Amino acid sequence: MDGVGDRFQKETKYRPRSIGVQRLNWEAKPASFKSHEEALSIIPLPEPEPKQTNDLWQLLQDRRSRRTYDRKRPLSLGALSVLLWATQGVTAGHGETLFRTAPSAGALYPIETYLFARAIEDLETGIYHFRPEHFDLEYLCRGDCSPELTLAALGQNMVETAPVTFLWTALIERSKWKYEQRAYRYIYLDAGHIAENLYLAGEALGMGVCTIGAFFDDPVNALLGVDGKKEFILYMATVGHPRKGSHRRG
Ligand SMILES: Cc1cc2nc3c(=O)[nH]c(=O)nc-3n(C[C@H](O)[C@H](O)[C@H](O)COP(=O)(O)O)c2cc1C
Repeated sequence: MDGVGDRFQKETKYRPRSIGVQRLNWEAKPASFKSHEEALSIIPLPEPEPKQTNDLWQLLQDRRSRRTYDRKRPLSLGALSVLLWATQGVTAGHGETLFRTAPSAGALYPIETYLFARAIEDLETGIYHFRPEHFDLEYLCRGDCSPELTLAALGQNMVETAPVTFLWTALIERSKWKYEQRAYRYIYLDAGHIAENLYLAGEALGMGVCTIGAFFDDPVNALLGVDGKKEFILYMATVGHPRKGSHRRG
């Protein structure tokens, strides 16, 4: 018997007969950007300035998922700014569309970036939301939620030791507006592109990155204050300085 995943794959297939001519209702287009009125404060990010140029081919060769971090070594705000730019930085504009470093189906950009910042220089510990259109952070929630987040990530303790955890949600209506049920395929593809950018940028900065797909959805959604239906967690990633003696090469 087909499971829900098999049915999903079947029912979201494009077929020549099902695709037809599509008319988009521009008046109903969901907002492209999200802000939180209740944010505690707004933190402008420093200009992203990658210090060195890296050889892309070498980065691809060296990239690994790295899970052991030097828990005493915080990340600088400058490095965080480079990582955020690499994942969702705005690189060009066309009308209201702000193109990013990572591709997105239909240039609809349904992915939002949240951070749990445990040890970032000049940032209080807590949960933040990144706004690519302003290149800043909204400070959403004070305090160290690493025990709850680690538990939600099935006890994977890299969340507890990483200076920062990226949390990517999808605002599904942004993509559904055009793609309807097929949007559920595209959000995961979008998130994959973003995550690979983080892996490569982390590698370029000499940092360790590990993506996380194994987590309990509901507690993560609750931590981020999202409803789990219109907006929900898709993917996470920890970042930190690799601990001395962990398996970083080069
Ligand atoms: C969709 C996805 C989900 C993943 N989830 C986890 C995870 O929950 N925990 C973890 O330790 N690694 C996770 N990883 C990392 C993989 O284990 C890793 O990519 C794989 O072992 C290959 O190693 P490499 O990334 O070093 O090449 C995930 C990777 C992907 C692409």
